[in-house]
Amino acid sequence: MDFFVRMRAQEDIPAIKDLMGKVYRPPLHGPEAIWSEQNLLLHISRFPDGQFVAVDKNGRLVGTSTTLRTSMKVALTPHTWSEISGRGSLSTHDPGGTALYGVNIAVDPSLFGQGIASALYKARFALGQKLECQAFIAGARIPGFSALAGQLTPKEYLKKVVAGELFDPTLSKQIKMGFKVCALLENYSPDPETLNYAALISMELTNAPKSPNSHPKSPSTDL
Ligand SMILES: CC(C)(COP(=O)(O)OP(=O)(O)OC[C@H]1O[C@@H](n2cnc3c(N)ncnc32)[C@H](O)[C@@H]1OP(=O)(O)O)[C@@H](O)C(=O)NCCC(=O)NCCS
Repeated sequence: MDFFVRMRAQEDIPAIKDLMGKVYRPPLHGPEAIWSEQNLLLHISRFPDGQFVAVDKNGRLVGTSTTLRTSMKVALTPHTWSEISGRGSLSTHDPGGTALYGVNIAVDPSLFGQGIASALYKARFALGQKLECQAFIAGARIPGFSALAGQLTPKEYLKKVVAGELFDPTLSKQIKMGFKVCALLENYSPDPETLNYAALISMELTNAPKSPNSHPKSPSTDL
């Protein structure tokens, strides 16, 4: 599929809300999982360069990502999504921060697996390199965990996903792109699929992929 990545504009807001509604569907997810118009406007005013969308050749929005800057110390210290993102408003954005932090990424579910997230990440990595940030860091959802929660602890689940013994619909893709799993985050964000857990993931920006299919191999872990 043909698509390209560009900076987010105010006119994209209704389509971003529609896309988020397709990704976070009821009854599993409530309306709070979808960005409010107010927060989407704040992202653009607080850090316009950090907000990207992917658009197909007909102009249809097929992916979105939200990013802020913070210090490496803040990004690598256990945190919740709400704390690090100012409840999604990016009030915590630090223009001098040396970590680029991934607040959100979402792709139209009918187009999963077609490289849209990889393209959004590459735009984010290029931005981080331009800003001379050290690393791209994020809390990665682990939506496959709830189905196995009776059999595995969250840490055991992460280790199996890192080892490639289990496929997680989100984290496995990020590992494939070269992210390192640094730690387990508890109470990251209310989410029935993850039981509120997330993986703290990091990509050194000196290693970040610049061209399609150029990924650091053998993802490592500090778990
Ligand atoms: C996570 C998400 C953004 C990934 O988007 P996507 O467009 O499907 O991802 P891509 O197609 O770019 O794939 C990324 C990598 O995973 C690999 N991959 C994709 N689907 C795969 C599959 N089913 N099996 C194995 N690998 C797969 C791709 O090959 C790619 O690796 P590569 O760059 O080395 O080729 C998307 O699934 C999503 O929106 N999920 C719901 C919201 C969410 O959980 N967001 C993340 C918050 S942390």
